[in-house]
Amino acid sequence: MLATLYAKALDAERQRPILGDVWARDAVASIDYDWTKTTITDRTSPSVTTRSLHFDIWARQFLACHDRAVVLHLGAGLDSRVYRLDPGPGIEWYDVDYPSIMELREQIYPSRPHYHRIAASVTDPGWLDQIPADRPVLALGEGLTMYLTESDGIALLRRIVAHFPSGELQFDAFNRFGIRSQWVNSVVRRSGSTLHWGIDGPGEIVAAVPGARLLAWVSPFESESFRDVSREYRVMARVMSWVPALKTMAQYHRYTF
Ligand SMILES: C[S@@+](CC[C@H](N)C(=O)[O-])C[C@H]1O[C@@H](n2cnc3c(N)ncnc32)[C@H](O)[C@@H]1O
Repeated sequence: MLATLYAKALDAERQRPILGDVWARDAVASIDYDWTKTTITDRTSPSVTTRSLHFDIWARQFLACHDRAVVLHLGAGLDSRVYRLDPGPGIEWYDVDYPSIMELREQIYPSRPHYHRIAASVTDPGWLDQIPADRPVLALGEGLTMYLTESDGIALLRRIVAHFPSGELQFDAFNRFGIRSQWVNSVVRRSGSTLHWGIDGPGEIVAAVPGARLLAWVSPFESESFRDVSREYRVMARVMSWVPALKTMAQYHRYTF
């Protein structure tokens, strides 16, 4: 989550930012850390910022249709989405991540009305009990699913669908090829993380999560957030799109229930 935060901070310094996350910029400035350890550079930052912009767009669409709802921002890390989207007073927003991350968040970001921090593993079945179950939910997990095991991830999605009357599930995923080749991902390698869950298509989610219906399944290269990337990035995307396993190595999923 330091890597994604740093990517957003570098982007915010650009003349023409993709995401323009000034909260990330200020957060990075306030943390004494050798950010080069993340291996993120200005050149590679769009791999993060286009994804964050994509989920900001989808989340905004949900919020535009629901003025009274719950947002579960799963594996929120140090992401400033609640400040970027600035939801209205009818939205109860919950950032969920491990206790150590939540402690750090508390030091970096101000509190705000209708905003809650949940210090827990998303795979812990207990924390959902404290969330109001009487309104629609947006459950959004960016950069999360690959860190979960398949059984934990599916159990989490099922619990959310069972808890709320209706809502949306929005998350990105790697395909199995992306999981198998995780050793080429320098950010993952340097962080010491291990990736587990690969998803090869939305049929796997629809089959495993009763009630979930597909709204969209998008390659990052087809996302409108990719519009403003450099020519170099566009050429790389075109080449990767010729190979199906590379085209869907990363995917954006959106379901309704
Ligand atoms: C790659 S970071 C993404 C952070 C943020 N969503 C973003 O896009 O900047 C992955 C995040 O998922 C969190 N995470 C991974 N497994 C988790 C779990 N079981 N429960 C809660 N958070 C988890 C990590 O702590 C980390 O903050």
